[in-house]
Amino acid sequence: MSKSVTLTDKATGKDYNFPVLSGSVGPDVIDVRKLYTDTGFFTYDPGYTSTGACKSAITYIDGDQGILLHRGYAIEDLAEKSDFMEVAYLILKGELPNGEQKKQFDRDITLHTMLHEQINRFFSGFRRDAHPMAVMCGVVGALSAFYHDSLDIADPHQRMIASYRLIAKMPTIAAMAYKYSIGQPFMYPQNNLPYADNFLQMTFGVPCEPYKVNPVLAKAMDRIFILHADHEQNASTSTVRLSGSSGANPFACIAAGIATLWGPAHGGANEAVLKMLAEIGHKDRIPEFIKRVKDKNEGVRLMGFGHRVYKNYDPRAKVMAKTCQEVLGELGIKNDPLLDIAVELERIALQDEYFVSKKLYPNVDFYSGIILKAMGFPTAMFTALFALARTVGWIAQWNEMIEDPEQKIGRPRQLYTGPAHRPFVPLDKRA
Ligand code: CMC
Repeated sequence: MSKSVTLTDKATGKDYNFPVLSGSVGPDVIDVRKLYTDTGFFTYDPGYTSTGACKSAITYIDGDQGILLHRGYAIEDLAEKSDFMEVAYLILKGELPNGEQKKQFDRDITLHTMLHEQINRFFSGFRRDAHPMAVMCGVVGALSAFYHDSLDIADPHQRMIASYRLIAKMPTIAAMAYKYSIGQPFMYPQNNLPYADNFLQMTFGVPCEPYKVNPVLAKAMDRIFILHADHEQNASTSTVRLSGSSGANPFACIAAGIATLWGPAHGGANEAVLKMLAEIGHKDRIPEFIKRVKDKNEGVRLMGFGHRVYKNYDPRAKVMAKTCQEVLGELGIKNDPLLDIAVELERIALQDEYFVSKKLYPNVDFYSGIILKAMGFPTAMFTALFALARTVGWIAQWNEMIEDPEQKIGRPRQLYTGPAHRPFVPLDKRA
C-alpha cells in the first residue's frame, strides 16, 4: 500500500493527503509538490533543514551513524582500496570501472589536462596576493569563453566532454594559482603521471630541475581528494544544481559552486581551523578558548567541529586523522605544535558537555589543514584543493540533474514580511 500523511487545517477542519516517497535507504520524504495548489500554503524552511530538493543516486549519508556511501560503497573502503580516478568514475558513471574502463578513463582525463594557452595570460590580470579561490572562481567561469564546443547542455556527449575537461583542468588551474602567487613559472601537466602526482609536480616542481614525487605524499594527496569528492546536497552542490537548473553552462555552474565553497562555514573551514590553532598557540590556552566558544556573546566557533548532517564522528575525519599521522611520519615531523593543540582540543571537546549535548564532532576539515600545511601548501590553497576534488561531485550532480525528467528551474518561495501595498508618495510630499 502506498504511504501518505494527512495534514489537517485546524482553522477549516479540512484534511489534505500527501504521498510519502521512499528511497532505497534512509528516511522517507513527504511529497509536498501539490501543497500550494491544494492548500494555499507554502513550507517555511530556512537553510533547508527538512527539505529534500532532488532525487539523487550518488551519495548517501546517515548522519546519526556517521556513514558515508558513494554509489553504495563506504568512504572508508574507497579511501583505503581505491584511487581518486576510480572514485571519480564511480561517482560520475554509477559503477566502479573494470580494468579496461579505468585505463580508458585515465587516458580521457589526461587528454584534457592542458589549458588553452591564452588562459595563461588571464593570470597576469590578478594581483599577486589574490586569494587562489578568487582566481579559481574567475578562471573556471572563464573556461566557458574558451570551450564553445562543450557548452550545449542538451547534448550528452558535450556534457561528458565538459565534465572531463573540468576534472582534468582543475589541478592545472589550482597549481597555476599557487605558482602565480609565489612568482614562479607555471608548470605544464605531465600526462605520464597519475592525477595526484601530476598535481604535486605542477605545484611544487620548477622547470629548472627534475621533480621527484614522494609516493607517500602522492598517496595522501589522492586520499584527500577521495575524501572530498562528493557530499550529497551541501551548500556548494546545491548551488551548482540551482545554477544549472536555469540551463546555465557547466563552467559557469562550477564557478558558482567554487564561490559557495569558499565560505568559512563550508570549504573555507580547513583554512579557518589552522588560523584557529595558530591563534590558540599553546595547549595551555585551550580551556580559555573553549570558554569563549561556549559563550554565545563571543561569536566564536570551534572550527572543524560540527556538521549539519553528521551528529556523530564524520567518517572522513577518521581517515583524515590516520592520513595525518602517515604524512607527518613520512616527513619526519615528530612534534608538530599545531597537531598537539588539535589532538588536545579534540580530546577536551569530546568530553565537554557543551559539545557532547549538541552532538558536535570533528568534521573532515579538522585534520586536513595540518596535513596540507606539512605537505607545503600555504593555508590559502586549502580550499582550492577542496574545490579541485569536489568538482567531481559537482559535475556528477549537475549531469544527474540535467538527466532527471522531474528537473525544473529551482525557485524557492518566501514568507514575505515587508509592507503591504501602499500608495506612492511624490518626493515633494514626503516628510
Ligand atoms: N562550535 C561551537 N558551537 C557550534 C559549532 C561549532 N563548530 N557548530 C555548531 N555549534 C552550535 C551552535 O551554536 C548551535 O547552538 P544552539 O543550539 O545553542 O544555538 C548548535 O550547535 C547547532 O548549530 P547550527 O549552526 O544551528 O548548526 P548548522 O547545522 O546550521 O551548522 C555548521 C553546521 C557546519 C555550519 C556548524 O557546525 C559550524 O559552523 N561548524 C564550524 C565550521 C566548520 O567546521 N565547517 C565545515 C563543515 S564540514 C565541511 C563542509 O561542509 O564544507
